[in-house]
Amino acid sequence: MVVSMGRRRWPSPSGLGPGLLLLLALAVPAAHGAGAIASARPEATRAGHAILAAGGNAFDAAVAVAATLAVVEPFGSGLGGGGFFLLHRQQDGHQVMVDGRETAPAAAHPDLYVDADGEVVPGASVDGPLAAGIPGLPAALVHLSEGYGRLPLARVLEPAIQWAEEGFEVSAHYRAMATFRKDVLNDYAASAAIFLDAGEVPGEGALIRQPDLAATLRRLGAEGRGGFYDGEVAAALVDAVVDHGGIWSAADLAAYRVRERAPVVSRLGDIRVVSASPPSSGGVALATMVHMLEDLPLGDLSEADAVHYMVEAMRFAYRDRAVYLGDPDYTAVPVARLTSPAYAHRLVRQISPGQRAHIPTPDFPPQPAGTHTTHFSIMDDAGNRVAATLSINYPFGSGFVAAGTGVLLNDEMDDFVAKPGVPNVYGLVGGRANAVEPGKRPLSSMSPTFVEGPDRIGVLGTPGGSRIITMVLLGALDFARGNGPASWVARPRFHHQFLPDVVQFEPGAIAPDVQRELEARGHRLQALDSTYGNMQAVMRERRSGRFSAASDPRGEGLAEVR
Ligand code: DON
Repeated sequence: MVVSMGRRRWPSPSGLGPGLLLLLALAVPAAHGAGAIASARPEATRAGHAILAAGGNAFDAAVAVAATLAVVEPFGSGLGGGGFFLLHRQQDGHQVMVDGRETAPAAAHPDLYVDADGEVVPGASVDGPLAAGIPGLPAALVHLSEGYGRLPLARVLEPAIQWAEEGFEVSAHYRAMATFRKDVLNDYAASAAIFLDAGEVPGEGALIRQPDLAATLRRLGAEGRGGFYDGEVAAALVDAVVDHGGIWSAADLAAYRVRERAPVVSRLGDIRVVSASPPSSGGVALATMVHMLEDLPLGDLSEADAVHYMVEAMRFAYRDRAVYLGDPDYTAVPVARLTSPAYAHRLVRQISPGQRAHIPTPDFPPQPAGTHTTHFSIMDDAGNRVAATLSINYPFGSGFVAAGTGVLLNDEMDDFVAKPGVPNVYGLVGGRANAVEPGKRPLSSMSPTFVEGPDRIGVLGTPGGSRIITMVLLGALDFARGNGPASWVARPRFHHQFLPDVVQFEPGAIAPDVQRELEARGHRLQALDSTYGNMQAVMRERRSGRFSAASDPRGEGLAEVR
C-alpha cells in the first residue's frame, strides 16, 4: 500500500496481512547464554541468539544482528550506511555511544545541492551516489567487535554471510519499499540486478541472493576495517561512485573513523534516560522534553491536557533542534544548556494550559513517514545492553549499488540542510549548524535509548525519521507509567516537530473529543491515514532478572527471549 503524504509518495506497512505481523512478549528468567533480542527481522533476531548461544556477549550479538539486517533488510540499513550503537557494559558500568554516522566527502560544500540560482536541485541529495555520505557501519562493526566483543569478527559475521549467499525471501514490506524506489533502482544496473527481477519488484517469497555482499562481509571479517576502507573494496566503491557522478575519493574512505561519545542523560523522576548524543538530535531533544514534563502530573491530567503539554514540549524541543543542533565536531552545540532542568523549567513557564504557546512559525508541507531504517535492542544474561539504530536513510538509500561490492549506498546527505529553511524529506528544517561541510556528519534523529528505573531497565528505539524522538518519548513515558515493552511498541502515536506546524497522529491515537479540545487551544491537527514506526524493545526486571521483549506490530520483526 502506498500513501501520499506531502511532497513524496511513501509506502505504508499497514497493508501487511496480520499473519506477517509478529508480536511476542515473553517473560523468562535468565539462564547461561540467555538474553532478549528484538529486531525488525526474524533472521536477525535469531542470528543474535545464535551468537549468544555460541558464547558471545550482547556486543557480539549486536554485530551479528546489524550485519544480518544489512543483508535481509536492505532497504533499511547496510554496510553502505551508518548509525549509532548505545552500549552498557555491565562489569564496570561503562556507557558509551559508538558513533558510526556517515561523513560528508572532502569535496562536499554547503551549496552542493543547490543550482546556480540558489534553488535546491530536486532529488540531488536523495537519489544516486552524490547523495551518499562515507559509510560508517563497517567501521562501527569492527570497533564493536574488537573493543567489546568476545568472539572473532569473522565468526560473528557468519550468519549474515550465509543469508547473503543463500538468499532471503522477499516479504510484503520489501515489496512496498522496492515499489516506492523502483525507478531509482532501475537507474543503476548493479542495483536492479540484485533487488529487482527484470526491472520489476520480485514477488513475495522470491529469493534475493547477494554473493558480492557476502564476499565484502568475508573481507571485513578477515581483514577488519582495511577490508572495506582500503584496498580492493574501497577502490571499487570509489570508482563506481565517481563513474556515476559522485564525489568520493580513496582518501575519504581511508580517513573515516568512528567516534565514541558520552551519551546524553536526563531524568524523568526516578528514571534515568540515557540516549544518543550529537550528531544525533535525539538525546538532547528527549532531555528537553523529559525535563519539561517531569514535574507535570501527566497521569492525573485529562487526556486533552496531557496531550497538550506533550505537544508543547515537542514544539519547543524541535524548534531548538532546528536552530542549535549539528555535528559537535563542527558546530558548538549547547548540550549542557539544552539538557539542563533549569532551561526546561524556563520553557515550561511559556506554556499555558488553555492556549498553545506562540512560537513564530512559517508553514511547510507535511513530512513523509516510514518503517525503513532499523532499530534493535539486546540484553544478555550478564547485564550488557545494546540499543542500535542504523540507517541508509531513504528506502534503499540512494538506490545505488557499487558494482562488484554488493554495497548499497546511503543517501544520508539529505539529513544536512541543503538550504536554510528548506525542509528535507522528513520536513525538517535547519540552518548553519547543520550545513554541508567536508568531513562533517549530518544531523540525525536516531535515538537508541536506555530507560533505567529502580526496578526495571528498558532498551528501546525505532526508525521513523523526524518522528523517532517523539516515539521514544512516548515509549519512555509509558515505561514510567509501569507498562512493559508490548505496550511501548504498540501504543498509538502522535507527533509535533515545530515545522510543519501540525500535530500529526496515527489512526485512533487521539479521540475525537480530545481533538476538539486541542483545536480549541489553537493546535492544528493532521490525522494520518497510516501508522508509522517500527519499535523494537526489551526489558529486564532488576530483582528477578526476568526478561521481556516486544516487536512493533506495525512491522515484520521478531522479539525473542531465550
Ligand atoms: O538519521 C536520521 O535521522 C534519518 N536518516 C533516519 C531515517 C529514518 O528513520 C527513516 N525511517 N522511516
